[in-house]
Amino acid sequence: VVTAAGCGTKAIDAGQAGGGSKKTIVVGTDAAYAPFEYIDASNTIVGFDIDLMKAIAKAAGFDVQFVNTVWEGIFITLQNGERDALISAITITDERKKTMDFSDPYFEATQLIAVPENADVTKFEDLKAKNLRVGVQTGTTGDVAVSKLLGKTSPNIKRYDTTPHALQALAIGEVDAVVADNAVVLHYIQSNPNAKFKVVSDPSFPKEHYGIAVKKGNKELLDKINQGLKAIKANGQYDEIYQKYFGT
Ligand code: ARG
Repeated sequence: VVTAAGCGTKAIDAGQAGGGSKKTIVVGTDAAYAPFEYIDASNTIVGFDIDLMKAIAKAAGFDVQFVNTVWEGIFITLQNGERDALISAITITDERKKTMDFSDPYFEATQLIAVPENADVTKFEDLKAKNLRVGVQTGTTGDVAVSKLLGKTSPNIKRYDTTPHALQALAIGEVDAVVADNAVVLHYIQSNPNAKFKVVSDPSFPKEHYGIAVKKGNKELLDKINQGLKAIKANGQYDEIYQKYFGT
């Protein structure tokens, strides 16, 4: 368990506390997803989502404690009460809305294909037509897209526990392509120029929106999160955080 700086020793408050002490919300995140959530050199969870969630919490009057949580099974931790909320670059989908509730969207994304620089791939269909091995992070929207193209049980789909593991597999030739969230692929390429990847986009990839997830029916927390998100969009803090991670 890695907690965010300053939150690590804070006891979890059951919520009835008076005297100005705030309720602490336990937030799960798969912190292998730079620049949204990752572990820095001092073993602290940092990133765009982390700054965003902290700002939302401050604006809405609660405290947050981040807990690194493996992606596979992350949604279960809401249902069993281990986490109060999840911020993990989670795409809002109709399927997921059946089992949890989402905040208003806070980030726009789409899928991107990463291939070796010299690869002869210009569109998503090529992955199928050329019988390529495709790496994805298990259970992501990238997995859903590739499963649709190749068939869920295709031996050409190689599933990894994290997106960086899929991209590392591409670097060593274990797969021929990776399909994942655009900003994460681009960040990996920037940080690993020796990998010599190029990216291919495809108009068939839908626009995706990230949302913060809470347990289905937890309207009280969801309202607070949406209120905080609105506040930081209005007062410029959202833009500041955006600039910090995505500004030029
Ligand atoms: N946006 C994609 C999805 O919701 C991938 C998210 C993966 N996030 C992470 N922190 N590993 O499926």
